[in-house]
Amino acid sequence: MNQPSSRFSIQSSSPSSWRPDSWRGFEALQQPEYPDQAALERVLCEISKLPPLVTSWEIVKLRALLADAARGACFVLQGGDCAERFVDCTSARITNTLKVLLQMSLVLVVGAQRPVIRLGRFAGQYAKPRSAAAETHGGITLPSYRGDIINRPEFTAEARTADPELLLRGYERAALALNFMRALIKGGFADLHHPEYFDLDWVRHSPLADDYHRMAATISESLRFMENVLGIRAGESDRIDFFTSHEALVLGYEQAQTRRVPRRPGYFNLSTHFPWIGLRTNDPEGAHVEYVRGIENPIGIKVGPGATRECVAGWLDKLDPGRNPGRLTLIHRFGVSRIAEELPRLIEIVRGEGGRVLWICDPMHGNTQTTASGVKTRRFEDIQSEVEQAFDIHRAMGQQLGGVHVELTGENVTECVGGARGQSEEDLAQAYESEVDPRLNYEQALELAFLIARKMKRTNGG
Ligand code: PEP
Ligand code: CO
Repeated sequence: MNQPSSRFSIQSSSPSSWRPDSWRGFEALQQPEYPDQAALERVLCEISKLPPLVTSWEIVKLRALLADAARGACFVLQGGDCAERFVDCTSARITNTLKVLLQMSLVLVVGAQRPVIRLGRFAGQYAKPRSAAAETHGGITLPSYRGDIINRPEFTAEARTADPELLLRGYERAALALNFMRALIKGGFADLHHPEYFDLDWVRHSPLADDYHRMAATISESLRFMENVLGIRAGESDRIDFFTSHEALVLGYEQAQTRRVPRRPGYFNLSTHFPWIGLRTNDPEGAHVEYVRGIENPIGIKVGPGATRECVAGWLDKLDPGRNPGRLTLIHRFGVSRIAEELPRLIEIVRGEGGRVLWICDPMHGNTQTTASGVKTRRFEDIQSEVEQAFDIHRAMGQQLGGVHVELTGENVTECVGGARGQSEEDLAQAYESEVDPRLNYEQALELAFLIARKMKRTNGG
């Protein structure tokens, strides 16, 4: 196995042939076509001068935490919308997203018996890759909707034209969301002594309410016990860390927020703590891998069925040549029927290449299906089964699943079928909001957390 060299530690400096714009010399898939290039350049220039959304201290801290997770000492909960919408940048929506992630993480802490790292798919998750670049309705063909930071969902030529101003609007909304979240967390919203602060209104009516409240009470009691009886001040640990992540898709936007900072070598993407590369843009020879190669942030790569040894070697050698835990996370998303054959193969390949990655299971993106009436959905049971299989496979191969990546919302939507309330295909029309992928609603998300916690207890003897 390649041993880490001192050349590539957390404090590495970027590889010499790399520049924040060197990706421009590579094929960049899934980039919007802007009719007005001069307007695009103006906006990117403006974004490059605005203050960063996150700091290098936070990024370095997350990278160290992810290294712990890769060693099995922490568990990662990565979750949020498939695509954030600008209209959802409201106090209620932001609070609910934070609440559901906090509640899930409390449940997971109990199952995992180790700290949980909360990584929101938020404050910047605005751009979407699409399977088709264009869409045709009634004989009219227009560009696909690519997320609120690129164009608008309505099917008109004007709405679908990529608008550079939206990049600026997205940056601003990310800043607004993050500002509010930081204030909530700092103000005690996420104080583990008071889990009632982050109760969602309708948890009271949920069949899961009693289980959840019992767990939350146990945690605050343990904290009080530690503090009062043992004299240990939980201190910082009762105020929770929250990190952000988004798909690093629109490379001009990511580049505009890629900076050097004083007193630390290298470049940081300061628009998010954890940028990841999606399945459609993960070619090791492509522009997206080139871009993330040179930044110091921890990096995620989505991996689907059929990843070759050559491809895995490409990711490892380009993105993590020192094989440093915490640098690279593989987010596997195979689907319930393929994980059993695909994951063991992938694990073998990564081992063969000396990889020391963090493993996260995304049980959503391999399980999307369309109902007879044409609605995109996912079955709760498939999602549950893929995660459970992931735990078993990692365990059988002598390692641990280090986290989960889930599309969810704190709202009472009807996008995925199944779960404790038995949501059916007919129910989907009631509150289907997503313009892209179907998300677990609040209750389904919490139920999944309970099931994962139970599974972790059984699997890891936690
Ligand atoms: C996503 O995470 O929303 C996504 C598009 O995933 P993937 O790249 O794995 O298909
Ligand atoms: Co999605």
